[in-house]
Amino acid sequence: MTPNLFHTDYPWTSPDVPLVVSAPMMKITLGRHAVSVSANGGFGFLAGGFDLTPLAKDLAEAAELAKAQGLSLHNGALPIGVGVQNWGSDLRLALDAIKKHPVAAVWFFAPKQLSDLLEWAREIRAATENKTKIWVQIGTVAEALEVAKTTKPDVLVVQGADSGGHGLAHRASLLTLLPEIVDALAEEGIKIPIVAAGGIMDGRGSAAALALGADGVALGTRFLAAKEAVIAKGYQDEVLRVSDGGVSTTATTIYDVVRNIHGWPETYNGRGVINRTYQDAKHGMSNDENVQLYKEAMQQGDSGWGPDGRMTTYAGTGIGLVREVLPAGDIVRQVQQETVQILQKSAKRFAS
Ligand SMILES: Cc1cc2nc3c(=O)[nH]c(=O)nc-3n(C[C@H](O)[C@H](O)[C@H](O)COP(=O)(O)O)c2cc1C
Repeated sequence: MTPNLFHTDYPWTSPDVPLVVSAPMMKITLGRHAVSVSANGGFGFLAGGFDLTPLAKDLAEAAELAKAQGLSLHNGALPIGVGVQNWGSDLRLALDAIKKHPVAAVWFFAPKQLSDLLEWAREIRAATENKTKIWVQIGTVAEALEVAKTTKPDVLVVQGADSGGHGLAHRASLLTLLPEIVDALAEEGIKIPIVAAGGIMDGRGSAAALALGADGVALGTRFLAAKEAVIAKGYQDEVLRVSDGGVSTTATTIYDVVRNIHGWPETYNGRGVINRTYQDAKHGMSNDENVQLYKEAMQQGDSGWGPDGRMTTYAGTGIGLVREVLPAGDIVRQVQQETVQILQKSAKRFAS
C-alpha cells in the first residue's frame, strides 16, 4: 500500500510519506501559508472562517503566490484547500470565490446542523464539476456516521479533544475516538479516508494517529509557530512559552464573548491558553466588564499577551511541544520524516 493514499487525488502531496495537512485557522492561515505547505508536499488550507466576504480576494492572492512558487493547477484546481465555518458562512460567497478560483478541496466545520452540509456539498461539487473535493471535520462517532451516510464526503477529518481552537464540548481524545470511528464505519461497509486532528505536534503524534487508523494527519497548533502564519508576535511568543497544555489551556466560550463573536452552535467551545479573561470570568466578573478590559488590552499590542494578558491565545493541549518557529514547509517535512522513522523503528522492534 502506498504510504500516502491521497496522492492520486492530490498529486502534489509527497507520495512516499504520510499526508500532512495544515488545518484552516481563521485569520491565521491565509494564502502564503497554504501555498507554502502545498509547495512542500503537504496540503495547505486557507481559512475562510465564518465571514467569506474576503475569500475571493484571498484566493486571487493565493493563485498569484502559487504561480510564483511554480505550483501548477491540478485538474484545473489550485493545489490548496479552503476551510469554512459553516454556521456563519454564506454559501453564495463561497461559490462566487470558488468558481473564480477552483480549489482542490473545501473543508466544512461546525454547521448549525449536519443536514446543512448537504446543500453545501452538492452546490460546490456542481460548481466545479467535482474538481473540488469535500472534507468534513467531525468530533463524535455519531457525527462521523451521519456525515458519512448523508454528505458522503471525500475525506472525514476526525477532531479529538486535545485540539486547539473550536471543537465540540463533548468529545473524546483521538486515542479512543479514532479507532471507534474506524470500526463504526467498517461495520457499515463505508470506506472514507480519515485525517486525524487534535494534539498532533510532531512525528510521534502523527505515527500514533496512523497506528490508530488514520490515513493522514492535520496539524493546527504546530503551525501557529510557522513563519508564514499571520499571527501577532505576542500570540506566537505565548505559543512558544506555554507548556503543560492539560493545565495551561482550557475549553471555554468566554473568548468568543470578549471578542464579540456570536453564533457558534451551542455544542461548541474553544480551547485556548488560560489567561486573565478566563480567570476573571471564573471568579465572577461580568461579561460587560470583561469585554471592556479586553478592548483595553487590544490597545497594548504584543504586551496584551503573556501570563497576565487578556488577549486570546487559541491553542491545543500540545502547546508545550511547540518550541520553535520554522517555515511551514520545514514543519511539513519534519513531521513526514519523523513519522516514517518512528514507524520503521517500531516495525523493526517487533519483527519476529
Ligand atoms: C487558532 C486556531 C484557529 C482555528 N480555526 C479553525 C477554523 O477556522 N476552521 C476549522 O475548521 N478549524 C479551526 N481550528 C481547528 C483545526 O481545524 C484543528 O481541528 C485543530 O487545530 C487540530 O488540533 P491541534 O491544534 O492540536 O493541532 C482552529 C484551531 C486553532 C488552534
